[in-house]
Amino acid sequence: MSVRTASINLRYVDSQTVAVSLDETVTKQDLRDLLEVFGAADVAASGQLSQGTADAVASVGQTSAAVPDLLAQAAGIKSIDDAPISPAFQRTRPLLQHEIFNMYHSEHELLRYIYRLQSRDLSLTTSMIPLGSCTMKLNATTEMIPVTWPEFANLHPFAPLHQAQGYHAMFRRFERDLCEITGFDAASLQPNSGANGEYAGLRTIRQYLISKGEGHRNVCLIPVSAHGTNPASAMMAGMEVVVVKCDADGNLDFADLKAKAEQYKDRLAAVMITYPSTFGVFELGVRNVCELVHSYGGQVYLDGANMNAQVGLCRPGDYGADVCHLNLHKTFCIPHGGGGPGMGPICVKSHLAPFLPSHPVLPTGGEASFGPVAAAPYSSASILAISYAYIRMMGTRLVAKRARGLLVSRGAKRALPRCTWGRVRGTCRLEGPEARHADGAPQRQLHAQAPRKVLRHSVH
Ligand SMILES: Cc1ncc(COP(=O)(O)O)c(C=O)c1O
Repeated sequence: MSVRTASINLRYVDSQTVAVSLDETVTKQDLRDLLEVFGAADVAASGQLSQGTADAVASVGQTSAAVPDLLAQAAGIKSIDDAPISPAFQRTRPLLQHEIFNMYHSEHELLRYIYRLQSRDLSLTTSMIPLGSCTMKLNATTEMIPVTWPEFANLHPFAPLHQAQGYHAMFRRFERDLCEITGFDAASLQPNSGANGEYAGLRTIRQYLISKGEGHRNVCLIPVSAHGTNPASAMMAGMEVVVVKCDADGNLDFADLKAKAEQYKDRLAAVMITYPSTFGVFELGVRNVCELVHSYGGQVYLDGANMNAQVGLCRPGDYGADVCHLNLHKTFCIPHGGGGPGMGPICVKSHLAPFLPSHPVLPTGGEASFGPVAAAPYSSASILAISYAYIRMMGTRLVAKRARGLLVSRGAKRALPRCTWGRVRGTCRLEGPEARHADGAPQRQLHAQAPRKVLRHSVH
């Protein structure tokens, strides 16, 4: 029996060594197959067995499935089924004993239980919430279902490529979609979170600078308004953080940025900006910021955690950013919160593509990469199916429309002239008279002009 006919994947450590991990899903039959793959029958024929075992093997025939058991007996075990599990690894308590696990056993009961739980949550359906545009999204059932399919849920991250072709087709298409939405040229799906994406993006920038003989550039300019992960990621990526001031409205202080860029011009590696900012402000001078930093030899890292407010309206790659992360658990529907799984892919301009994260087990990423940023080459790949389904179902243009719809509805357009313009910190929801058709039915059509008008006034 070969590994292929036995449907077993081994880890090929080097030309002489293979490794295999066993867990509690492995059955006794799997063990039999494994022994057979490793030539239990050949051992039986090798003449190394005691006379009694050799006779027993001869009586059943070397190709018999009973050979592994006979070898087990030779080792003092009655059969593989009786193979003892070391007490150190034995469970001492029964599994899933909490009453909740034993109360809801039909789909409807479980659905109602989950619905009851979520109704206790504070969300936009009942009140204003203190989180930004980043969290506006819908986790539709159709997006969530593929996570439960064994084809997505049970595949090992290091499964050979020929067994994971569907996954890889999804990766490639998804990367293309993200590039189209953000205006970049290449993507890495490896980072596991927004913060991990920041680290990956900054390491990519550093590797690019090193390749140009500018490894001494290590200063990262970060506005005081930045999310706390920005300076932490910069430090972890080996950069020195220099803080840039913001004005009272949360805008980046351009004069201070220019002064710091000038002061560190020989060592400037990057600026990290968040757009719209954590204050909820669309910085009017974002292009100028990018141009300024480029003119001093630095790269622009765009924190895309608030991408939901940009989708369809503007693209980081168009206004001057070099790299950007996307929190799929924010903008692209992966459930967020409670420490749940996340994914923070990064998108880059073509000059950074060769330096994207790679992986030692499955070849991926750039050819001149600094290495991996996560244990698995495509991080939490099974939840990627959620974002993939969302984009496929909405279409990249429709994602744009929906994001606009979340910003403002047609009803709000009429209300706009009556709005008092001012700056808002955090998220603002515009409410206007509900637009209706002549027959009284609510109009659902989204209006393209309204969001632009809103954005011109720095409101989101
Ligand atoms: C602006 C900003 N940047 C970065 C992050 C970090 O993302 P993550 O929580 O996925 O690590 C967040 C998360 O809230 C954020 O709001």
